[in-house]
Amino acid sequence: MIADIEELSSAEAIERVVEFMSTLPTENGWNSFQPLRLYEGFWTFPHFLESIILAQHRFKPKPGDIFLCSAPKSGTTWLKALSFAIVTRNLYDTSNSPLLTKGPHHCVPNMVGFEYKPDVRQPGIPLIPTHAPYHCLPKSVLGSDDVKVVYICRDPKDAFVSMFHFAANRRPKENEHIAIEEAFELFCLGRSVFGPAWDHILGYWKASQERPEKVMFLKYEELMNDSELYVKKLAEFIGYPFSFEEEQGGVVKKLIDLCSFENLSNLDVNKTGKRHEDDDEATNKTFFIKGKVGDWQNHLTPEMANRLDNIVEQKLSGTGLSFELNNGSS
Ligand code: A3P
Repeated sequence: MIADIEELSSAEAIERVVEFMSTLPTENGWNSFQPLRLYEGFWTFPHFLESIILAQHRFKPKPGDIFLCSAPKSGTTWLKALSFAIVTRNLYDTSNSPLLTKGPHHCVPNMVGFEYKPDVRQPGIPLIPTHAPYHCLPKSVLGSDDVKVVYICRDPKDAFVSMFHFAANRRPKENEHIAIEEAFELFCLGRSVFGPAWDHILGYWKASQERPEKVMFLKYEELMNDSELYVKKLAEFIGYPFSFEEEQGGVVKKLIDLCSFENLSNLDVNKTGKRHEDDDEATNKTFFIKGKVGDWQNHLTPEMANRLDNIVEQKLSGTGLSFELNNGSS
């Protein structure tokens, strides 16, 4: 555990964190060009970790901040889009929302790099996304009653398959992609970005049980199955409830349609736009693949699915959480 970086200058704190990270266990992940480091029980890439550690010690919350949390490939893009649409619905309507021209990841940029900026929040948009496990959230956030935390999770079988495709799309083209069997083996050992996947989920699940007024726990599958119910719950939880008039006027449905996979994935910005200026090719589209529940059935053998189901079932046993909804039929 790193200590005493609260009072250092940013440059000194970053230096201390980088030095600390070099002492952490390191293993190859799904590719050889991006090793994973193990920090507080989780594997992740150094660029994520640096900002997570800095934020753990130095982030200063403001009342009304909303943390949007997820493991990668679990619905981050969707949660960002929905939350942005909810909190900005009095500024824009669905015909001029920035989501139509900028895309969810530019409307709600990641917390990464917040140390270099005076304020991570954009005016009027108190949304702060992170993939950090619950216990690695900023200490100030864990201790605050004024900050809400929303977590979205997804059946690990679909999250794995989604991650496999994402990693294939984002690798340098000269690198061969890992075989799905090998990636699966590592995933089952917990060695994936922010793995073990089940521990990431469980951390937030337990927090949502202990502090339901602070931590909301969403499932991708449930959001897909009954979008209207869960979008209303989400808006209420983050402090932007829909009025009776809005509900009667179809505002909820309009926001859901704006943020749907079909709508977002067909926008030019998400077909040809770049996530980072120096990306060689269009990268926004890598966040939109199929947007379905149960795609694992097209990629995992029954044996693979059973193995992962068994691991997850065992880990979640007795916690009250399961993924039984995900039978691939919705
Ligand atoms: P698939 O690879 O199964 O299609 P993340 O946003 O956490 O990176 O997760 C990406 C996954 O969410 C991808 O899943 C992607 O297609 C899906 N996704 C992206 N936008 C979505 C939306 N608006 N609605 C539903 N799913 C969406």
